[in-house]
Amino acid sequence: MGGSVDLMRRTFPDEVDDALARYPVGREASAVLSLLYLAQAAYGYLTDEAIAEVASTVGLPPTHVRGLAGFYTLLYERPTGGYVIHFCTDLPCALRGAEPMLDRLCAKLGIEPGETTADGLFTVEAVMCLAACDRAPMMQVNLEYYEDLTDERLDEIIADLRERASSSALRRPPLGFGPPSEMALDSPAEARGIDGHRQGDDA
Ligand code: FES
Repeated sequence: MGGSVDLMRRTFPDEVDDALARYPVGREASAVLSLLYLAQAAYGYLTDEAIAEVASTVGLPPTHVRGLAGFYTLLYERPTGGYVIHFCTDLPCALRGAEPMLDRLCAKLGIEPGETTADGLFTVEAVMCLAACDRAPMMQVNLEYYEDLTDERLDEIIADLRERASSSALRRPPLGFGPPSEMALDSPAEARGIDGHRQGDDA
């Protein structure tokens, strides 16, 4: 196992301290999920080094931390695009045209569901219900919901995401996810659009 094992701490020193400070001394293990998101944001995905750093930070065995991460769909154990699109194809969304919409999206991006675009910007995955059936069809991009989708709206969203990634405010394309907390404008986390905003509310 090579590479740095303190990248999370070096990238997000204040956020790591804040996550640990939420729990009493001796209960640092309770911060493991927050730290996994931070580690993912720092390393791009949950590499062995990322898991090792989280494990040593909270005093748990790496195998325990790896096992925990496996339960969460927003924690990635393989490289992903900067924007991970979870496109809902469950019944209510399917009844409102989700499947042909997903096919069209994948064709537009030149990938199949489960794949990442060559530029590393988008990963698309078909997923089950995301609990926004009243505004089907819908998708989740990183931590943001986009609802009441149409082909035209989807085109606009993809164009907007590309624009955000190429913005001069961003030093590099977004990688994975970060924690749901405020960070500096030019931090990698900024690129991930982490504000929990339901984008469909803008429509
Ligand atoms: S079926 Fe798509 S959000 Fe519920």
